[in-house]
Amino acid sequence: MDSRGLGISQRVIDETQQGTAFNPGEADTESGKKFYIESYGCAMNFSDSEIVASILMTENYSATRKLEDADLILINTCSIREKAEETIRKRLRIFDKVKKQKPGTLVGVLGCMAERLKEKLIEEEKLVDLVVGPDSYRDLPILIASADDGEKGVNVFLSREETYADISPVRLNSNGVTAFISITRGCDNMCSFCVVPFTRGRERSRDPLSIEAEAIQLFENGYREVTLLGQNVDSYKWKREGEGDVNFARLIERVAQISPLLRVRFSTSHPKDITDEVLHTIVRNRNICNYVHLPVQSGSSRVLKLMNRTYDREWYMNRVEAIHRIIPECAISSDVIAGFCTETEEEHRDTLSMIEWAKYSMSYMFTYSERPGTMAARKYTDDIPLATKKRRLQEIVLLQNKVSHLSNQRDIDKTFEVLIEGDSKRSSEDFKGRNSQNKMIIFPKNDGLQPGDYVEVKVHAVTTATLIGKIVQNQTS
Ligand code: SAH
Ligand code: SF4
Ligand code: F3S
Repeated sequence: MDSRGLGISQRVIDETQQGTAFNPGEADTESGKKFYIESYGCAMNFSDSEIVASILMTENYSATRKLEDADLILINTCSIREKAEETIRKRLRIFDKVKKQKPGTLVGVLGCMAERLKEKLIEEEKLVDLVVGPDSYRDLPILIASADDGEKGVNVFLSREETYADISPVRLNSNGVTAFISITRGCDNMCSFCVVPFTRGRERSRDPLSIEAEAIQLFENGYREVTLLGQNVDSYKWKREGEGDVNFARLIERVAQISPLLRVRFSTSHPKDITDEVLHTIVRNRNICNYVHLPVQSGSSRVLKLMNRTYDREWYMNRVEAIHRIIPECAISSDVIAGFCTETEEEHRDTLSMIEWAKYSMSYMFTYSERPGTMAARKYTDDIPLATKKRRLQEIVLLQNKVSHLSNQRDIDKTFEVLIEGDSKRSSEDFKGRNSQNKMIIFPKNDGLQPGDYVEVKVHAVTTATLIGKIVQNQTS
């Protein structure tokens, strides 16, 4: 599926599939030069594009959704799997054509692929004028100026402090109801398969006051749901002399206290770090959603050890049990990798049995893709044939679809509080929204309701991905 130009889903985005062009909305002005930005990868990247847009707009750039109109074409990239990088290179071919028609147009590569390949990108992709890593966006105006003078601009410096805390993001492709807020950057975990620690650098937490201020601002502008983002949100930690320490549990509670009408979500939780304190904080606050994205990666303890995930199957199961014990209505979703180095058929079946046991509401599922420079690339052989990886993935996908469908069927006849996000994709007669468990619900509209309102919806039918219901009661807006 090619979904450029579609709105950004609040779910974590499938890195290989999605690219989204900036829909400038009211931000489009006629003054100055125009930029076009397209984003790939995880929610953090989409959130970063909003920071980039903000930086450019203070430089008198305006946004355009037409590639051909742009003086500056930016692509915010992902390196998580080889396929993600291939997608980016294909887009660069298209930009090349546009540039040939309109000489003087600058093309900039931002994000994880910029960080991974650095100057090499300019050698490999002749059309690229700017290569800017995730911690260097403040430098964009200077780099653009030097590129305008014919000098290619590269900044891939990774910072230990940068959180862009003072930059107010320009909301891109916004539905006006839900928004992302970055709370940490980078990752210190070193999972052996993962390129993120190399592309995003060391983990750092953002000042809680700036997070709260951003959430308050969003609420005042009509937003009703914020998703707090980080590669490992549970390790959020703010420590400053003279101020009380703030951990992740405290942070979500503080954001939840802004208003009972502001929903709070977060992603991603790491199984080794999610604490009972966080789970108790979720149940204590009605507006913190009953949903945890808790990627398992593999159901086999031996494979998890090779992956350097630092938990085993039992530990993971214990965390799932704690979630169900403390938050009875909680939905759990996962990420799964098929065919990691040396994975046996039996170990693959351990992953299948985990999916069945954990009853995930949904999962993001991938075949293992070796990334240069990672611990797995250096230490292990990528020895599972592609056909085997694909077959295992297929089995995983089929099982997850069955499990998702069963999970949805258990919701029939239940009534959920739903936050309306907008019109359903299929019909303007229907609204779409999510329940606390992050499941999408489609239901016929009622007069007087609008996106941002809460309604009680009773489910009467389901598909693998969606619940279908009817409004039983209008709620507060
Ligand atoms: N920080 C998150 C994950 C971020 S990357 C976490 O720890 O859960 C999103 C997902 O991409 C990962 O959970 C993993 O399932 C997948 N992924 C990462 N590297 C991969 C690789 N080399 N091959 C295949 N999938 C990978
Ligand atoms: Fe990658 Fe692991 Fe960090 Fe997630 S926790 S970003 S998988 S290194
Ligand atoms: Fe991709 Fe970078 Fe996110 S590699 S998944 S865009 S952190």
